[in-house]
Amino acid sequence: MQTFLVTGGVGFIGSNFILKAREEQWANIVNLDKLTYASNPQTLAHLQDDLGYHFVRGDIGDIELLRNILEQYQPDSIINFAAESHVDRSILSPQDFIQTNVVGTFQLLEASKAYWEKLSLEKREPFRFLHVSTDEVYGSLGPTDPAFREDSPYTPNSPYAASKAGSDHLVRAYYHTYGFPTLTTNCSNNYGPRQFPEKLIPLIVLNALNSKSLPIYGDGQNVRDWLYVEDHCEAIYQVLQRSRIGETYNIGGNNEQTNLTVVEKICAILDELAPKPNHHSSLITFVKDRPGHDRRYAIDCSKIKRDLGWEPRENFDGGLLKTIQWYLKNPTWVEQVQSGTYQTWIQQNYGERKVALSH
Ligand code: NAD
Ligand code: DAU
Repeated sequence: MQTFLVTGGVGFIGSNFILKAREEQWANIVNLDKLTYASNPQTLAHLQDDLGYHFVRGDIGDIELLRNILEQYQPDSIINFAAESHVDRSILSPQDFIQTNVVGTFQLLEASKAYWEKLSLEKREPFRFLHVSTDEVYGSLGPTDPAFREDSPYTPNSPYAASKAGSDHLVRAYYHTYGFPTLTTNCSNNYGPRQFPEKLIPLIVLNALNSKSLPIYGDGQNVRDWLYVEDHCEAIYQVLQRSRIGETYNIGGNNEQTNLTVVEKICAILDELAPKPNHHSSLITFVKDRPGHDRRYAIDCSKIKRDLGWEPRENFDGGLLKTIQWYLKNPTWVEQVQSGTYQTWIQQNYGERKVALSH
């Protein structure tokens, strides 16, 4: 069986990828994660007896550590999920985003290229470095603009998006300059189990369950294209296994929704699963907008469908129901991630946002 080095595998998408990779026997996994605030080590605790899973705590920017891991585990491919990933945090403190997303990716590329150059021909030919990126690098769309394609210009608007754009450019340059076998995927908004509750969907679910207000930035008409996380993991695996080197693929859910619609759908599901005297939607509160808030994202994923036959399987209503059920069934996981610095973040991000309008 192959071995994948996965970075950032304790986070939301990486942990879902690892669980699927082990369940479906895609590969043995070495998971390098710094365990920042966004990760809960308990997420993958039940893999501790799995002989095909190894965890290393560390930073993708630590080149000595990277050299040792590559030497020891001799991975067949590398998948880079590790990143600072929350736009609001990048607005309040961009430094960590530059350090991990740009400098960290650079160090990972350097160490991986040096490792790849020394591989035997037999191992070198199928080796891949897959960089997981975002649709946010393409900027913001107007209501009738065509969806982002792989050749849409990069126009990032937040420090997060700019740092991811920087890392994408480095990955591209390593392919073109050194022939290093890279792949890049640019995906839309993911949702599903194990997402840290700073992001819209889990934040709204958990606030609603605790009868706290449901903060909607601006007028709630910003549009995102939501993809169930398992569909994203499957797409990454298909790209890794079957794509030509140097390619980039857009991945999306064909599922554009305004933020207000998403929140209302969550409230309707919770009215069924966890009824309260008042409808959950009575907690909706419009608050001060995110600075530079991108209005609309939409992904044209015809290239990955055409080349690799991938398309999303889960529909939004079904995926949202499964997601909410997961949060209801895992209160301990929720308690773990909401302890520590989580409360400080909530105060920092929401404390200063004056209520703009009531619903
Ligand atoms: P996340 O914030 O949930 O997890 C990130 C993980 O990376 C955490 O476990 C964290 O500890 C780890 N990490 C952070 N800095 C590190 C470092 N320097 N070294 C090693 N590990 C480090 O993020 P996510 O939502 O799972 O996103 C994963 C990747 O997918 C990111 O690159 C993100 O940009 C991209 N992406 C996310 C979405 C989304 O909707 N969540 C959509 C498209 C692309
Ligand atoms: O598009 C892909 C990106 O999706 C990923 O690259 C990012 O890592 C991921 O965090 C996500 O970015 P967004 O900014 O779109 O996700 P977030 O969940 O933070 O917000 C989704 C929308 O909801 C956005 O328009 C802002 C809005 N929002 C968010 C929060 C946290 C609110 O209205 N209220 C909130 O409290």
